[in-house]
Amino acid sequence: MSASPEIREAIREGSWIRKMFEEGALLKAKKGPDNVFDFSLGNPYGDPPPPLAREIARLAGNPPPDLHKYMPNAGFQDVRQKVAEDLRGATCLPFTPGLIVMTVGAAGALNVALRAILSQGDEAIIVAPYFVEYLFYVRNAGGVPVVAQSADDFQLDIEAIRAAITGRTPVLLLNTPNNPTGAVYPADSLRELSRVLAEGEARTGGPIYVLSDEPYRKIVYPGAAFAPPAASLPNTLVAYSHSKDLNLAGERIGYLAVSPRAADAAELADACVFCNRVLGFVNAPSLMQRAVAGFQGIEADMSVYRKNRDRLVTALPEFGFSVVPPGGAFYLFPRSPGEDEMKFVAAAREENVLVVPGRGFGRKGHFRVAYCLAPETVERSLPAWKRLGSRFFGRKGGRR
Ligand SMILES: Cc1ncc(COP(=O)(O)O)c(C=O)c1O
Repeated sequence: MSASPEIREAIREGSWIRKMFEEGALLKAKKGPDNVFDFSLGNPYGDPPPPLAREIARLAGNPPPDLHKYMPNAGFQDVRQKVAEDLRGATCLPFTPGLIVMTVGAAGALNVALRAILSQGDEAIIVAPYFVEYLFYVRNAGGVPVVAQSADDFQLDIEAIRAAITGRTPVLLLNTPNNPTGAVYPADSLRELSRVLAEGEARTGGPIYVLSDEPYRKIVYPGAAFAPPAASLPNTLVAYSHSKDLNLAGERIGYLAVSPRAADAAELADACVFCNRVLGFVNAPSLMQRAVAGFQGIEADMSVYRKNRDRLVTALPEFGFSVVPPGGAFYLFPRSPGEDEMKFVAAAREENVLVVPGRGFGRKGHFRVAYCLAPETVERSLPAWKRLGSRFFGRKGGRR
């Protein structure tokens, strides 16, 4: 018995981040954790806010009678009510609890939505650079990923999206703020996208749903503003997660929300509830549903991310690197010196700097820097970045 060839290939194709993470663990064991600068993994920095930690302890110590039981596959009604209220405020759209499914993180939400929408062989457009798991999530649902590259500044290339639409395109995955680039798509770009999708729908005769993956929507830096895709694009499903805003990545809690303006919204929401069940999630973790219910409107603590972002977008260009300053999330996606970023990634490793090659995200010639680290660690990494800069760019600095 062996694993299916498709899965073996997927493991080979999509394990860059894990590979770097594992190499990092080995390197840390060898050199000491303080001597390795691990920018490989998007693990949020810090703990859940203290009031949330207290709420989790309270629920665990004094559980309501329904806490540890089976429940509706969509999740607790009162929790979905809170989510709907928050979304109504953020989008001015009449979200109702019936359009919300509590999910096992954004990852669960994306898998549920794709399974609900895609038929075997349907195409899902994904915008590169992309969160690498999209490829596998689309294939999990029997779909075929079709890649549309973004522009050089990582903003949407609307023409590339237009060209990717075919008669078999029921869904487009959108991720703003973006992992791995930090790009935040402005409202006018989303409105333009809306026009192109409407044209595509007229041409193909069916809805093209936008699956809006928004786990970083509360991590946006001054100068950028998160524009909710649901406000501009009628056929939207929102995938959200509390991994990043409440630092609960290991607890696996998020939701999927079908826009009240989406075509066949109620049927689609029912399909998502069914898929949550039969994909084996059954329901989102119940203690976490209850815990996050009262924390829908709170802001994420961005202080560390902002400090690191500001430090790196200033320092790296001084050392010669070309960086598009990220508008949100906690990633940079600089150009590598030379088109083969693997050489640079290997050289960085020699300096104990761990980054992930851009090819893992569908764009060669770049690398990803996850700066969700202690600011002291980022500061201590700068001499290594400087040495890399002088090694690759000489004293004159880089390009772009
Ligand atoms: C763009 C993007 N989407 C989805 C996820 C999955 O998030 P979750 O932990 O909520 O499943 C991540 C996690 O890093 C991400 O970066």
